[in-house]
Amino acid sequence: MRKKWSGLALAFVALVFSAAAYAVPPTAEILSYACAGCHGTNGASAGPSMPSLAGQSKVFFIDAMKKFKSGERSGTVMTRLVKGYSDEQIVAMADFFAKQKPAAQTTAVDPALVAQGKVVYDNACKRCHLENGKEFEEDTPVVAGQWLKYLQIQMGEFRDGKRKISEKKAEKVKSLTAAEWEAAAHFYASQK
Ligand code: HEC
Ligand code: HEC
Repeated sequence: MRKKWSGLALAFVALVFSAAAYAVPPTAEILSYACAGCHGTNGASAGPSMPSLAGQSKVFFIDAMKKFKSGERSGTVMTRLVKGYSDEQIVAMADFFAKQKPAAQTTAVDPALVAQGKVVYDNACKRCHLENGKEFEEDTPVVAGQWLKYLQIQMGEFRDGKRKISEKKAEKVKSLTAAEWEAAAHFYASQK
């Protein structure tokens, strides 16, 4: 009798534990599997038009997701995809990706444009995008080591007014020519 009861008790305990295991919300790492097809494993981008998320600023990440959700930032896929995630899940993923080792992509760049881009950077970008774009600060993202293609797409959107630029930034970048934006893209892509 005694044996039977303890067996039952054990079965009950096991049941409670397995129920608890199912009730636990997915971890940020598990959530991130849904991003890997485009943003790569642990946020090291899988393709040239996708940004890497590894080592990115948490503040920027959360801000970007909010802007995709509200429609303030346009996107090809993110504006739809973001709707499937709660604010809590977004914060958890921001934290997970921020902790991953930054991924510098190896993109072919034009050395002459890299040199011109450095001048543009020193004049117009340095104040916010620290350490040649390798460091983030608050809502200013890491831009160094992203794919050239991704940088060109985003800079094109800033230039055409498709992606909003803050007033503070506009002051610095509004007079840039298309050639200067292009040079800056090569410069950032060259930084490791
Ligand atoms: C089908 C491909 C695809 C999937 C899946 C995907 N993304 Fe994206 N993501 C993109 C693209 C492309 C962009 C650039 C904006 C756009 O065009 O929508 C982007 C941009 C972003 C940005 C802005 C980064 C920056 O540097 O500006 C964040 C943050 C982001 N995605 C997070 C996520 C998270 C978190 C997931 C998983 C829950 C995810 N994405 C899944 C393709 C994808
Ligand atoms: C006043 C500060 C400031 C200056 C100056 C500045 N930036 Fe930015 N940059 C930001 C902030 C903040 C963001 C994020 C904005 C957002 O997503 O709405 C950003 C975003 C970007 C992005 C998008 C990155 C991504 O992953 O989505 C690129 C590319 C970029 N900046 C390039 C440049 C270049 C090139 C220059 C100089 C010509 C420059 N920035 C000057 C603050 C600045």
